[in-house]
Amino acid sequence: MGSTNPFNDNSLSIFKRIFHLILYFLLSISLICFYFDLFYLTHSPTQLIHSTTIFTYNSSISSSSPSNSSIGKDMTYDYKKSSCDYSNGDWVSEMRGPIYNVTTCGTIKESENCITNGKPDLGYLYWRWKPNECNLPRFEPNTFLKLIKHKHIAFVGDSLARNQLESLLCMLATTSTPNLIYQNGKDNKFRKWHFRSHNANFSLYWSPFLVHGVERTNEGNYYNTMFLDIVNEIWARDIDQMDMIVISTGRWFLLPSIYYENDLVIGSLNCPMLNHTQMDFYGPLRKALRTTLNSIIQRKVAKGNKIDVIVKTFSPDHFEGDWDKDGTCSKTKPYRKEEKVLGGMETEIRKIEIEEVESAKVKVKKFEGIKFEVLDITKLALLRPDGHPGPYMNYFPFANGVLKYVQSDCVHWCLPGPIDTWNEILLEIIKKWK
Ligand SMILES: *[C@@H]1O[C@H](CO)[C@@H](O)[C@H](O)[C@H]1NC(C)=O
Ligand SMILES: *[C@@H]1O[C@H](CO)[C@@H](O)[C@H](O)[C@H]1NC(C)=O
Ligand SMILES: *[C@@H]1O[C@H](CO)[C@@H](O)[C@H](O)[C@H]1NC(C)=O
Ligand SMILES: *[C@@H]1O[C@H](CO)[C@@H](O)[C@H](O)[C@H]1NC(C)=O
Ligand SMILES: *[C@@H]1O[C@H](CO)[C@@H](O)[C@H](O)[C@H]1NC(C)=O
Repeated sequence: MGSTNPFNDNSLSIFKRIFHLILYFLLSISLICFYFDLFYLTHSPTQLIHSTTIFTYNSSISSSSPSNSSIGKDMTYDYKKSSCDYSNGDWVSEMRGPIYNVTTCGTIKESENCITNGKPDLGYLYWRWKPNECNLPRFEPNTFLKLIKHKHIAFVGDSLARNQLESLLCMLATTSTPNLIYQNGKDNKFRKWHFRSHNANFSLYWSPFLVHGVERTNEGNYYNTMFLDIVNEIWARDIDQMDMIVISTGRWFLLPSIYYENDLVIGSLNCPMLNHTQMDFYGPLRKALRTTLNSIIQRKVAKGNKIDVIVKTFSPDHFEGDWDKDGTCSKTKPYRKEEKVLGGMETEIRKIEIEEVESAKVKVKKFEGIKFEVLDITKLALLRPDGHPGPYMNYFPFANGVLKYVQSDCVHWCLPGPIDTWNEILLEIIKKWK
């Protein structure tokens, strides 16, 4: 595996090193966290320039680490006992649009409400994921609700966990109305909904590294602090009450970080001023996920409780252009499957996530009630550059004429949009289990 650190590259001149260093600090202090869902409510036009610096991020990390991975684009994920591999396929056009809209779902987050915000080309709504070997059934809200009757389903992790849950709630709301019964935290990072019709609960837990740690902030440290061997109790303390956990992680691991194990610093990523051993984030991501899955297993086994655990794989972003220009995701059509291959970083993160789930499955072989599965959406998400809000994360962003820089979101997904497919596959996984 190649180094992910621009500072390690011997071919970089001193000047470039200093340049990168300054960029990293600007990045850290600036709005990079916007992409990580910290700043949706507070952004302003003056922050536009910072938003485009996401590209340095891409160029310095994702492209500098060609992966030596056997689970690359050729790999077909083996859904055991499943008749179909939903992870590989193509997007095909379909005139029948989404099952919900802004009228039937009143809870679409402003920054993902692309139609209301004036996204001009609505072609992205008329595509359907076609796995190579089968058809993915259209979402059936009634079936989903029946299968999760009397259950509590927790979505745990980063902003894509939230995005996916909001999509699911919109789809379910076409049949039964969810009631928000709890909310807490900045930007409502902790929430709970109750479906009275089925006595089912959905909760959202913000915990982007899954393990214990301190997130970077604009005011405080520019780096994350992660304790890789300690699960984050903010969600884990409620494990006893959860019947299913859907996990989403990965993106926050790309940020500068300091890593602890056994309460000792084991290294850091892109924190050159702190003199720790430079590490890449792959090992820490693997360790954090392993700690998480092990904690779930231990706590459930200890009490003889059942649980279903689903780990969603990495969701690629689609920034185009240079970091110092107004990069966005302006494509209006999906890629064909042969047109776009996964980058080295995306391949590696997905591989780690799949391998850790496989290893957890082996550990729970003896325990009937504990099930693990991968929700492998990396490839199907990669092919959808057209499904992000882009500049339409804001309400009519060009209403006052075309600005030089427009803040774009090419990480999260419009609702409705391609992310709805993730929940169609989730339903198939649950059906297969029952
Ligand atoms: C950034 O990522 C895009 C899309 O993945 C890629 O086309 C581009 O070459 C990358 N930029 C650099 C400088 O590597
Ligand atoms: C990939 O790994 C294999 C075995 O670990 C090694 O022999 C090979 O040289 C590596 N390839 C690259 C491109 O690093
Ligand atoms: C939303 O969907 C409902 C039910 O399918 C439909 O009656 C309504 O016209 C749609 N509203 C919009 C704004 O498309
Ligand atoms: C769902 O939450 C409600 C309100 O907190 C609670 O009364 C109910 O028992 C919960 N049901 C399940 C299945 O967790
Ligand atoms: C890092 O190392 C340099 C050179 O050895 C030293 O001057 C500096 O004080 C160290 N910084 C920290 C935070 O320990």
